[in-house]
Amino acid sequence: MRILAIETSCDETGLALVEGTNIDSGFAFEVIDSALLSQAALHAEYGGVYPNLAKREHEKNLPVLFEKFKEQQVDAIAVTNGPGLEPALWTGVEFSKKIAKERGVPLLATNHMEGHLLSSLVKDGKLENVQLPVLALLISGGHTEFVVMKNWFTYEIVGKTKDDAAGEAYDKVARMLALPYPGGPEVSKLAEYARANNIKSDVKLPRPMYDTKDSNVSFSGLKTAVLYLLRDKGGIQKFDLDARAAVAREFEDATADVLVHKTKRALEESGAQTFVIGGGVAANKHIREKLQELIATDFNEVEMRLPELNITGDNAIMIAEAALARALSGKDDQADDTLRAIGNLSIQTNK
Ligand code: KG4
Ligand code: ZN
Repeated sequence: MRILAIETSCDETGLALVEGTNIDSGFAFEVIDSALLSQAALHAEYGGVYPNLAKREHEKNLPVLFEKFKEQQVDAIAVTNGPGLEPALWTGVEFSKKIAKERGVPLLATNHMEGHLLSSLVKDGKLENVQLPVLALLISGGHTEFVVMKNWFTYEIVGKTKDDAAGEAYDKVARMLALPYPGGPEVSKLAEYARANNIKSDVKLPRPMYDTKDSNVSFSGLKTAVLYLLRDKGGIQKFDLDARAAVAREFEDATADVLVHKTKRALEESGAQTFVIGGGVAANKHIREKLQELIATDFNEVEMRLPELNITGDNAIMIAEAALARALSGKDDQADDTLRAIGNLSIQTNK
């Protein structure tokens, strides 16, 4: 089965044509072609994603990117209908409705977070031999949540951020450190530089909600602590490269400490057999390593799956794979002309 997927939930316009087949132990995927256009450079001057600009850019980019898929035979069109920025989501939804209609093929609604989760479980092009339950740590610019999948395509959010998402905190701290948007990779680079040169902060940042008896997290206080640290020492202009690197490292250490500690808790409580991370922040080297360490030392029996770096950020391959996994299992969510974009769509929504 061949699916053409469209992703426009934030500032990436993505299209992907993926062929999926049932195999004994799961599904095999072959990416026939994909296209991804990032608007990050445009949004950089606003220091974040500007929804109406994103919408305008998606409207412009979609027909251009679609050109290379136009002649292809497809069995269905899949589109992200949430969560994300509503004006941005709508562009993809409207465009997909139009092409599904023109071709007379089904339109499948796909949840963006399910896309991150399922595609992160894919190994060597196959989604197979997955031992349930799965615990997923989804860390992106808009979300930070622990999701348990006890049965395929059924999700329970067992923990989440009380305020900012991890990626959002990275982006805000990047701004305070005068680094460009999107700031996650920039803060991470600076933190790596500090580690390599043994540069440490003399101020310890808080680990918010570390000791709470649940799997929830919070990053707003951590972000504010960085703001005060900079302010109390005379502002960012008083920080040379090494001093900024020390702050980036301490911020990343605090973020990783909290995520690792809460992952430990969520693994114990869920009895998960498989652990997976997904979303933009899942590209972070330090967080990946710290989580791998946790699994290696405390959870020998749990299999950890790490997404390839090219699919951690938003893309349409993940949407195609999630839609294919559902369709090949007979659990697809066929939509029609009434399909709506839903900004705060939860992965927990039963379909
Ligand atoms: O999943 P994603 O591409 O978009 C959303 O659905 O939000 O995630 C984007 C987020 C941004 O906040 C970005 O700064 C962060 O992921 N990010 C990182 C890294 N790469 C991307 N954060 C920390 N370290 C990274 N290496
Ligand atoms: Zn995302």
